[in-house]
Amino acid sequence: MKIINSIYEMQKQAEALRASKKIIGFVPTMGYLHEGHLSLVRKARELSDIVVVSIFVNPTQFGPNEDLDRYPRDFERDRKLLEQENTDIIFYPEAKDMYPEGFCTYVQVRGMEDFLCGKSRKGHFIGVAMVVIKLFNIVKPHYAVFGLKDYQQFKIIERMVKDLNMDLEVIPYPTVREKDGLALSSRNTYLSEEERKKALIIYESIKTLKEMFKKGIRDPNALKQRAKEMLESEGGVIIDYISICDTETLEELTIIKDKALYAIACFVGKTRLIDNSILEV
Ligand code: PAF
Repeated sequence: MKIINSIYEMQKQAEALRASKKIIGFVPTMGYLHEGHLSLVRKARELSDIVVVSIFVNPTQFGPNEDLDRYPRDFERDRKLLEQENTDIIFYPEAKDMYPEGFCTYVQVRGMEDFLCGKSRKGHFIGVAMVVIKLFNIVKPHYAVFGLKDYQQFKIIERMVKDLNMDLEVIPYPTVREKDGLALSSRNTYLSEEERKKALIIYESIKTLKEMFKKGIRDPNALKQRAKEMLESEGGVIIDYISICDTETLEELTIIKDKALYAIACFVGKTRLIDNSILEV
């Protein structure tokens, strides 16, 4: 397994791999890997000859009062995990190289970024879109695999790749959960034991809304009201948003035709957690 820090070297490697007709699969991450990331790596392995994983805590996607400084990092642990998964290359750049002095280009996937997390994390998706384009230009993948826990991120990147005629395929991968239903996230490490228990109400609300949907309840307000009651019943869980929205445009729905996305963001203590599920029969 190679560890590449230099952008130039990564580009040269990618060019050589492409010239020798190798298929490159890519998993962009911010490190502190868990089983969710590792399943993305396995998916990339299934699709490709060469698997590249990037580890880069991207400063431009964090707001001024967010957790950039305390975001968990442990390169040595990540390196071992990726080695066990037969990863071919870790791309591990430095912020000063990714954003050299004078950097001033922004990409905005308009509309979609105004909903869900984009509302409370202003500028977040501009930062995500920007770093993902840069990583695609450096790693030159044929496939890039993204987890659906960040559903909005996946949809925004899928749209951007289409709109900009980028020559790669974006592959979605289902959310990986703990046995008790908690969606895996690097931020789960912030939770105390008590907070972790409280956080289970998020998955409980997903199960309840799925059951309601199966029973024929299609009123978005009734579904949101039930979710709100459940989340608020757990003291210390503060709702950021609850949304029943279109699975493609992410616009809030007033009527559900055949399916909808139930998306949630809430604070458990100081930790902001997100989750979602598609409601369909
Ligand atoms: O999902 C993430 O970990 C990040 O948003 C990503 C895609 C690696 C961009 O920094």
